[in-house]
This record gives sequence, structure tokens and C-alpha cells, in this order.
Amino acid sequence: MEFLRTQLSPLPTLKPYEVSTKTIVVTGANVGLGFEAAAHFARLGPKKLIVTTRDAAKGQDTVNRLVEATGIARDNIEYRELELSSFESVTKFAREYEKSGLSLDVLVESAGVAPDNYRPTGDGFDLTVQVNVLSTFLLFFHLLPVLRKTASQSPSPSPRAIIISSEVHYWVANPTASQLSISAFTKDPMETNRYATSKLLEVLLVRHIAGLLATSKNPLDKRIITHTVNPGLCHSELMRENDGWAVYLLKKAIARTGEQGARNYVWAALDEEAGRGERNGGYVSNMAFGRESEFVRSPAGKAMEPVVWNEIVRVLEEKTGPLDAIKDWN
Ligand SMILES: NC(=O)c1ccc[n+]([C@@H]2O[C@H](COP(=O)([O-])OP(=O)(O)OC[C@H]3O[C@@H](n4cnc5c(N)ncnc54)[C@H](OP(=O)(O)O)[C@@H]3O)[C@@H](O)[C@H]2O)c1
Repeated sequence: MEFLRTQLSPLPTLKPYEVSTKTIVVTGANVGLGFEAAAHFARLGPKKLIVTTRDAAKGQDTVNRLVEATGIARDNIEYRELELSSFESVTKFAREYEKSGLSLDVLVESAGVAPDNYRPTGDGFDLTVQVNVLSTFLLFFHLLPVLRKTASQSPSPSPRAIIISSEVHYWVANPTASQLSISAFTKDPMETNRYATSKLLEVLLVRHIAGLLATSKNPLDKRIITHTVNPGLCHSELMRENDGWAVYLLKKAIARTGEQGARNYVWAALDEEAGRGERNGGYVSNMAFGRESEFVRSPAGKAMEPVVWNEIVRVLEEKTGPLDAIKDWN
């Protein structure tokens, strides 16, 4: 009932946030919520808006559409290629970003997938867990040096890394550690909860990372803010492979437009309330801090945070090498 009530309630309009000194990155910006979020940011007039797409043709097309739709100057927007099903692509993107000398005030990780079955990636993982979880956090870790540099240069406010999760993380109630392990994503029993589990992992990891930032040996980490965002059920391309009549009717009845859902991204990325250090690791829903699932808020959920954290770090280090950027977190 609460879900229906909030879905059908109008969201507040966006404030005219000041972004003229900010560099903002939005992943998965060619369609859906990523595109709508990029359009919101573009209308605010950032110093630089960087949109990521999986190939150059989509990138150029996205820039053209954003220029046309928002009036952002071509000098203030560019695209970069990023393929999250490949760790090599993530590493290359981050290495080139760092080399470019650009700052990074806001990283919005919107790119995600929701296929209904197991798909192996070239790196040997299930597509859903690699794109939504492993690569999403690998990108965050690889860009930490840039976020820190930005934190050292700007007096205030703090740089933010926003991870787009979902209300469907509620669907995975009382999971065991093995249900949340990366290896579970290769097994048949996962089929129905594959996407929801990936979204729960994002919520648990962001909450844990907020704690690690607060206790990091690197003082700049205390200035970095990270949140998850639930945009609500929205019209987009997310269900492109399983858009059956039930999904069609549900969306027709209650889905928000992408423009509305993406307001949540902007609130998490720019609102003063969302920049308060004591709220770090929060779950943004309906343009305010919302409540994570009962499991996430329970002692069992809290105990699961380091379990999933240790596994993701181990898996990423095994596949991609030492994660030097997070060595101050232990
Ligand atoms: N729509 C909803 O109702 C809803 C609700 C809750 C949460 N969310 C979350 O919102 C985020 C955005 O979803 P959306 O609804 O906007 O979906 P969407 O319209 O399908 O957009 C997804 C974006 O991710 C990109 N992407 C997919 N696979 C990728 C890969 N391997 N590497 C790099 N980029 C990749 C897509 O690029 P291509 O077009 O090239 O594939 C596209 O730009 C997701 O994290 C999703 O879980 C959505």
C-alpha cells in the first residue's frame, strides 16, 4: 500500500541547484533514467557533464540529444565509453579519467541490467552481478583517487558517489550468506531473485562503505558521501527483455516517467540534506531519505554487510589485482 501511495503521489520539483563549478558523471546515460538524470544535470549548467555509453555511436547520439533537449553548450558535455560487463573497460575508463585531470564532484552510477536468466560475461561472472554490483563498485574504487583529489580542492560541499538501487531489494527477505554470495548468481535457484539480490547487495555495500569512509586513515575519505537511490517504478528500457503484458499493465497504471524518477538522482547528488555526513550511506527514495528493508535494518542485515564486503573485495582483487585505493579502509 505504501508503495502504491508513493508511486501515485507527485514528487516535488527540483531546486535550482548551483553546479557551475561541478563535474558530473552519469553512467548508462543513453536511455532511461540515466538519460533523464543527465538532462536534469545539463539544465542546471554544470562545468562539465560526462555521460557514459557502451559505444561511441550511442555516446555521440546521446550528447546530440542532450544538447538539443537542454541547451547545454557542447564544450560542457562529452561522452566516454564504458562497458560494465568487462573489468578491463572499467579499469581503462577510470585510468583515462584520472589521467585527464578532470575533477569529479558527482558520480552517478545508473547503468544496470535486469535479464531474467543467467548470462556469462567474458570475465566469467553472471551478467547481472557483474554489471550491477562488481563493476559498479570497481568503478567507484578506481575513481576514489579523483574523488579524494576533488575533496582536497573544493572547500565544500563534498564529492558524492550515488549508486542506483531499487525498492525491489525488499523482495529478498532474510537471505543467508550463501544466497548473497557472488557464486550464487550462477545457480538456478537464483532465477527469480537475480535482479533484486543485486539491488540488495548494492544497499548493503553502500551502507558498509559509508562506515569505512568514516573510519578511514585518509582524512579526505571523511568528506566523500555515498548513497543508494530508489527511483521508484519508472518507464524505461530496463524490462526490454521481459516486457510482458503484466509488466506493461503495471507500468501503465502506476509507473512514473523517467524524468520524475531521475529527480531522486539529482536530490541525492546535490541536495544539502543529502550531503550531511551523519546521513552517509543512506537510501534515497521519494526525494528524501527512505527506509531500507526490514532485513537491511535488522542486526542480521548489519552482520551481513562485512560478509558481502569481504567477498566483493576478494573477488575483485582475484580478478583485477590489488585495490590500492581502498587500502586505508582497514
Ligand atoms: N526503471 C525502473 O523502474 C527502475 C526502478 C528501480 C531501479 N532502477 C534502476 O535504475 C537504473 C537505470 O535503469 P533504467 O530503468 O534507466 O534502465 P534502462 O533504460 O535499461 O537503462 C540502463 C542503462 O544501463 C546501460 N547498460 C546496460 N548494460 C550495460 C553494460 N554492460 N555496460 C554499461 N552500461 C550498460 C544501458 O545501455 P544500453 O542501452 O547500451 O544497453 C542503459 O544506458 C538501474 O540501475 C536500475 O536497476 C530502475
